[in-house]
Amino acid sequence: MKLTELAHEILFPHLLFGDCAVDMTAGNGLDTLFLSKLVGESGHIFSFDIQKAAIEQTNKLMSENQQISNYRLIHSCHTKIEEKIPHSFFQKIKAITFNLGYLPTSNKTIITTPQSTRYAVEKSYEWMAHDGVMTILAYRGHAGGADETETITDWANRVPVHHEMITGNNSPESPVLFVIKKSERFN
Ligand SMILES: C[S@@+](CC[C@H](N)C(=O)[O-])C[C@H]1O[C@@H](n2cnc3c(N)ncnc32)[C@H](O)[C@@H]1O
Repeated sequence: MKLTELAHEILFPHLLFGDCAVDMTAGNGLDTLFLSKLVGESGHIFSFDIQKAAIEQTNKLMSENQQISNYRLIHSCHTKIEEKIPHSFFQKIKAITFNLGYLPTSNKTIITTPQSTRYAVEKSYEWMAHDGVMTILAYRGHAGGADETETITDWANRVPVHHEMITGNNSPESPVLFVIKKSERFN
């Protein structure tokens, strides 16, 4: 199974109709669509991307495949969670997903970076519900990808979070899926 599919499998049991979830890297919109279908008409999805092309692509995918409008596409860096998501959702977000790196069909130099990813992951953890989950799919094969993965590992090892790291295969360049839950010590 691909790690993108595994991420969906992990997120799935955490989401019910009416819940709130966040896609931190909209890209082509596949994760946004997946989350939007799970939370139904009464749910709320917030979906970030710094690229206009990604927001447009996600908007197109959603308009073609989702009849209801339970999502907000945010053309902004995902570090802006506190400014862009209403505070009423603080610690009510049941699922947060990051699929890092670049948009495969677009400019490969527009990429997530260790510093902003770390900040966004930290803020996401604060905003996540106590019974929520966060998945982070990190790629080590491109320039900067290994550093970014190391940064997330470092954060997860230093703070009291429950985390699991699943690698695609044994290659040091294979992608890594982080699954993060709140630790009771943090609550
Ligand atoms: C691998 S793609 C995401 C794939 C997507 N989840 C999907 O289902 O198609 C990574 C995306 O992260 C976006 N990105 C890069 N830096 C970002 C940032 N600081 N904030 C938000 N999005 C960012 C890129 O523009 C790109 O579209």
